[in-house]
Amino acid sequence: MKILVTGGLGFIGSHACVELLDSGYEVVIVDNLYNSSIKVLDRIEMITGQRPLFYEIDILNKDALNNVFEENDIDGVIHFAGYKAVGESVSIPLVYYQNNITGSLNLYECMEKHGVNNLIFSSSATVYGNNFKAPFKEEYGYGTTTNPYGTSKMMNEMIIQDLAKANKDLSAVILRYFNPIGAHSSGLIGESPNGIPNNLVPYIAKVATGKLAYLNVFGNDYNTADGTGVRDYIHVVDLAKAHVSAIEYSFKHKGAEVINVGTGVGYSVLDVVSAYEKATGQKIPYVICERRPGDIDSCFADPSKCLELLGFKTEKNLEQMCKDSYNFMEKNPDGIK
Ligand code: NAD
Ligand code: UD1
Repeated sequence: MKILVTGGLGFIGSHACVELLDSGYEVVIVDNLYNSSIKVLDRIEMITGQRPLFYEIDILNKDALNNVFEENDIDGVIHFAGYKAVGESVSIPLVYYQNNITGSLNLYECMEKHGVNNLIFSSSATVYGNNFKAPFKEEYGYGTTTNPYGTSKMMNEMIIQDLAKANKDLSAVILRYFNPIGAHSSGLIGESPNGIPNNLVPYIAKVATGKLAYLNVFGNDYNTADGTGVRDYIHVVDLAKAHVSAIEYSFKHKGAEVINVGTGVGYSVLDVVSAYEKATGQKIPYVICERRPGDIDSCFADPSKCLELLGFKTEKNLEQMCKDSYNFMEKNPDGIK
């Protein structure tokens, strides 16, 4: 089975490629290296002993993308390619819609043209917005998205649902990720954001390795046990494995399914700080500051549909996530360049 992975050199995509290769799939990667390095391809080969076929292509270039389908007999697609910085999406919405919507439309058009009917899409818990109370269930549908990034995920979900209504052979699995963190246990692949990280765990990793002095905790007056925001952190390797389960599921079913991928357990910012300290032996100094606009109290999954349909359950705990995050950061202090 040959799987096309768009954005396959990125954080989640690279881990998914490793799990796909280890499960016996052939992998073809399309990535324009906007937010990744070609060296990740070597790292995937070092981990798995196999080198995926790689096309340095922008999915906005429909002809080039179409050519990948001409040259390869693709059985299924996992679509990670897109922009993901929430704040940036507010400043440059057109760029985000262009990449995340037009890019996706190009891909879906190529799939249709070549009769490829199996799709896994990277969505996000952000589509629940701030309208519901955790644990979030898929049946809640959509909340009010607060930024173009979130809206682009919601729109993609709707487009895929419409495509599945029109094409009864389409099998699409829309995965709503909660908060992926950690890295491969080898320390060869992981998350390496440019500049100062926006997300909690990459920021803590920089504090732990001495690149940043302290963590700013965005508010301690939330309606949670210790007043800091609660999230559902999931190890990126667990998340990557969920994609293998999803692609297997897609070959046995038709239609579009929305599925949460989280652990079902919420941890506060201060829980994560303690876990990181315990897992790594490094002190994480922090100061409490203002809330970050748009943040909600608690966001965690009801993961039961994922278990029921995909037979998938997460295995790695928060301590392992912190350990692997630190291991990657220590081995790659400047990211994978
Ligand atoms: P990432 O930025 O590390 O990976 C995305 C990859 O896509 C990068 O390698 C980038 O170079 C590539 N890419 C971007 N635009 C492209 C284009 N036009 N053509 C070809 N390649 C392109 O991001 P990630 O964290 O691995 O996320 C993967 C997907 O999961 C994204 O769609 C993201 O929105 C979604 N997601 C991520 C998170 C998260 O916390 N990381 C949470 C929910 C959903
Ligand atoms: C963020 C995005 C969300 C995206 C997700 C991907 C925002 C508003 N939301 O979610 O759309 O799908 O990343 O993983 O950007 N925190 C601090 N200090 C920091 C950073 C974060 O206290 O320096 C807190 C936040 O207030 C939050 C928690 O840590 O309570 C997690 O934050 P983060 O890692 O940015 O993820 P989300 O906000 O859940």
